[in-house]
This record gives sequence, C-alpha cells and structure tokens, in this order.
Amino acid sequence: MEGLQGEYERALRSYLRQGGESSLKQAYELGRRALSGGQGILDMIALHQQSVEKILGDTQQIGVLHQAGDFFVELMSPFEMTHRAFGEANDTLRRLNESLESETRRIARALHDESGQLLAAVHIQLRQMARGLSPGAQFNLTEIETLLEQVEQQLRNFSHELRPTVLDDYGLVPALQTLAEKFSKRFDLPVNVDGKVNPRLTRSVEAAMYRVTQEALNNVARHAKASRVSIRLWRIPGEFHCCIRDDGVGFDPAAVAKGSRNTLGLLGIRERLTVLGGTLEIESAPQQGTELRIFVPVEA
Ligand SMILES: Nc1ncnc2c1ncn2[C@@H]1O[C@H](COP(=O)(O)OP(=O)(O)OP(=O)(O)O)[C@@H](O)[C@H]1O
Ligand SMILES: [Mg+2]
Repeated sequence: MEGLQGEYERALRSYLRQGGESSLKQAYELGRRALSGGQGILDMIALHQQSVEKILGDTQQIGVLHQAGDFFVELMSPFEMTHRAFGEANDTLRRLNESLESETRRIARALHDESGQLLAAVHIQLRQMARGLSPGAQFNLTEIETLLEQVEQQLRNFSHELRPTVLDDYGLVPALQTLAEKFSKRFDLPVNVDGKVNPRLTRSVEAAMYRVTQEALNNVARHAKASRVSIRLWRIPGEFHCCIRDDGVGFDPAAVAKGSRNTLGLLGIRERLTVLGGTLEIESAPQQGTELRIFVPVEA
C-alpha cells in the first residue's frame, strides 16, 4: 500500500500539472493492480484522500477536506460491502470452474485409458477365438474388429474433446490450432489461428479460453453462415487479448442481451471471463460479421 500511495500521488501530481492520457492510463493501471492485490473501495478513497491532502499541503481548507473524506467513506461503505460480496462470489465461481475442469480431466483420462485397455483385451480374445473358426466366421470376426476400432477411435475423440491433452502439454495456441483444424474439417469452414502467448498463461486462464473459443466456434457453426473465421491471440505485460472474428450474417448483441430466450453460450463466455477479472466486447451487426474481443488481466 505504501508503494502504491507514493505512485498514485506522483501520478496525480503529474496529471494536475499537465493533464494527459498517460497519467490517466497510469491511474487505471494502479487501480487494476490494487484490485488484484485485494484492495477495496474504501482503501482507494483513503489513498486518494491522503494524496490530495499532501498535494494541497497546509491550507485552511485541509480540515474541511479531511472531514468531508470521513463523511464520504460512510457514504461508500454499502458499495464496499457489495464489492466484497461480489469478489467472494467470483472466488467461489473460479474454484468451482477449476474443480469442474479437473474433474473433466479425470473423466477424459479414465475414458481414454480404461476403455483403451478393455478394448485391447477384447481384441486379444477375438484373435484367440478366430484361430479355431472357419474362414467365413473369421471374416465376420474381422468385421467386428473393424467396428471395435471405430468405437475406440470415437472414444478417443470424445476424450480429447472433453480435455485436450495438447492444452496441458503445449498450451493454448497449439490446443486452439488443433480445435480449429477439427472444426474446419467438420464444417468445411477455414479457421485461422494466429498469435503467440509467451510465457504460458495460468492453467485456469488457458482452460477458460479454450472453453470460450469452443463456444464461440459453436456459435459460428450454428448461427453465422460464415465463410471464414480468424482467431488472434496476443499477450503484453499484464494483459492477454484474444479476438475471434467471423464474416457471417452477424446479429444485434443488444437485442440478444435483452431478449427473453434462455440462451447460455454468450452468458457462459462472459461468466468465465468475469471470474478472471476479464471482459468480453461484442461487435456485430446484421450482415456485418461478428467479432468477440476478449481481455483478461494476467501477471505482468
Ligand atoms: N457468430 C455469430 N453469428 C451470428 N449470430 C450469433 C453469433 N453468435 C451468437 N449469435 C446470436 O446470439 C444468440 C445468442 O448466442 P448464445 O450462444 O448465447 O445462445 P445460442 O447459441 O442460441 O444457444 P446456446 O445456449 O446453446 O449457446 C444466438 O442465438 C444467435 O442469434
Ligand atoms: Mg451458443
């Protein structure tokens, strides 16, 4: 808090002297840092109050300002309580998402490993059975083996869809490239993934971004009638950005937000991002395509 106090005071002095976008941006950055460091609204009021008092120095008005500050703190206390409650609900939701992801990972592994072993045992049994059979019956068994291989492949696909191992092993960009390739094949729609995310994001941000992109692509397939999709990702200090754009029929996001239909996709995307302190902006209009702009604050 001490360091933040000094930085805020310097930025405020600089803004009062010469104004300018860069001091405003600095204030925004400080606010974000304070938020992720667990500071509340009342802490920020105290920070601002002390800085203003220091800057004004020993003037006659300082007593009034000080008292007005105490008064203002009372006014803001209910907002602080709501802010704290929101933070706690967010933490709970994040933990819930993390435990869902780890449960999904466990099920995906079990599906992959255990069904793989069982099917391998069935293959061995079938081969042993085949030895004593007539050529006609052997042919039938080969057919059964082909079907079993298809079942095996399908189970492997399900397991990868549930939790792509490439996400754990290689990170977000390769996982999205794999997702995009499968999507392109299935819907005959080119998807371009472009970007670098170095160093890797945390496990929860990677998992959330993977699910967000999955839903965004589902929406393109179901609603957009697009002829191409592009996914761009980049990371700068403290920020992760992703932009998912299609050239399809578009829609009116405000009308959808107000609408009475109980749709969950875009809502789910927003919720996943909110728990990470991130945001979703949608730019879309009928016949103009759709762009989802995603921002998530990350460790600098
Ligand atoms: N890329 C897109 N192109 C065109 N329309 C879209 C696109 N994405 C979303 N929409 C519109 O926004 C609506 C809401 O999307 P959302 O994902 O929330 O719900 P949904 O896809 O209809 O249902 P679900 O709850 O199964 O996801 C869609 O019904 C569709 O009209
Ligand atoms: Mg949807």
